[in-house]
Amino acid sequence: MERRRWLIIAILICLAICSSCRELKVTVKHNHKHKQHDLAIYNHTLATILVQYASAVYMSDLTELFTWTCSRCNGVTEGFEMIELMVDVKWCLQGFVGFAANLNSIVIAFRGTQESSIQNWVEDLFWKQLDCDYPGVDGAMVHHGFYNAYYNSSLRPGVLSAVKLAKKLYGDTNIMVTGHSMGGAMAALCGLDLRLTLGERQNVQVMTFGQPRIGNAVFASYFNQIVPDTFRVTHGHDVVPHLPPYYYYFPQKTYHHFPREVWIHTLAFGSFVYTVETVCDGSGEDPTCSRSVSGNSIADHLTYFGVEMGCNESNTCRIVMDPRLSAYGRTDLDGNFVVLRDPSLSVLKLNTDGRDQGTSV
Ligand SMILES: *[C@@H]1O[C@H](CO)[C@@H](O)[C@H](O)[C@H]1NC(C)=O
Ligand SMILES: *[C@@H]1O[C@H](CO)[C@@H](O)[C@H](O)[C@H]1NC(C)=O
Ligand SMILES: *[C@@H]1O[C@H](CO)[C@@H](O)[C@H](O)[C@H]1NC(C)=O
Repeated sequence: MERRRWLIIAILICLAICSSCRELKVTVKHNHKHKQHDLAIYNHTLATILVQYASAVYMSDLTELFTWTCSRCNGVTEGFEMIELMVDVKWCLQGFVGFAANLNSIVIAFRGTQESSIQNWVEDLFWKQLDCDYPGVDGAMVHHGFYNAYYNSSLRPGVLSAVKLAKKLYGDTNIMVTGHSMGGAMAALCGLDLRLTLGERQNVQVMTFGQPRIGNAVFASYFNQIVPDTFRVTHGHDVVPHLPPYYYYFPQKTYHHFPREVWIHTLAFGSFVYTVETVCDGSGEDPTCSRSVSGNSIADHLTYFGVEMGCNESNTCRIVMDPRLSAYGRTDLDGNFVVLRDPSLSVLKLNTDGRDQGTSV
């Protein structure tokens, strides 16, 4: 037991040293560039807004999503202007790109994969191997499933074309990328992609909720350097951020989260219960945050800031679409569907009362 404790301490010291080297490197690097980055500051209000987008993207009625009239499309997200809605049928993924005037930002949200049961998905997550080299970065590895879901599905071309259109319509604004669970993993890869594609002058913020680990320590460090304005919100005993597992005896060989985690948890003093948001250290694997508790809760995975995450129906990969909406979209050979707002038309207005049942896929 004593030996084990010393090993952990030694590894933590190594990690601390490594992470400070990393920060040093980043600072030195930025001295050559035009702008010095301040450490990103966590904004609670922003988190409670973005979580609503990460929740709404689970809705299966595409017409209601496109016109932003779904049951989760109100409150702080009211007035959101949808630019593009993407559905990848083969991978069972969904995402959208739009403009939020109150944030003065393009908001991009991803839905995770909708497996038949979240339990099965979580169990599979345990066994995911680091089996895919992240291109262009020596030693950076990710899981091929996460990588392909973003880079090899119909979502990436959809996102890139919508961002181009959004910049034409709204000028050079911030981009905020969000998602929950598997959708968080996709949001992270998308944020990284946008920074690499659009260049470092494009402000890209990533905020994910209940996101699994994506890659190894080299990938995490690279990610932090390219997308420093990133927050990974975790909740209580949510099991998903604990997966795929992190083995602290082999910090260079295992999955490793990127920073910065924000852990929402409750503290009880007698009959008083407080909700606390802890902004964690810059290592990505702060042992005093969600790693200090066991990841044994699916219920904690399904609510963030009191907002219901995930699908509210049990059927898998259902798409409900008004036939009139399909006139605005296009379907590719694999059955993937994209609705892109036509900038020459005014905002699409559909009467969502009196419509037909729509089609299910
Ligand atoms: C936090 O975000 C909200 C919503 O975007 C914004 O109105 C507010 O000014 C931000 N607060 C700080 C301190 O940046
Ligand atoms: C991407 O998907 C295509 C078609 O499903 C497949 O042939 C190809 O091998 C995939 N690429 C990677 C890198 O896995
Ligand atoms: C689904 O959402 C509706 C409206 O938000 C709610 O009334 C209903 O109880 C939810 N169903 C489930 C199974 O959570």
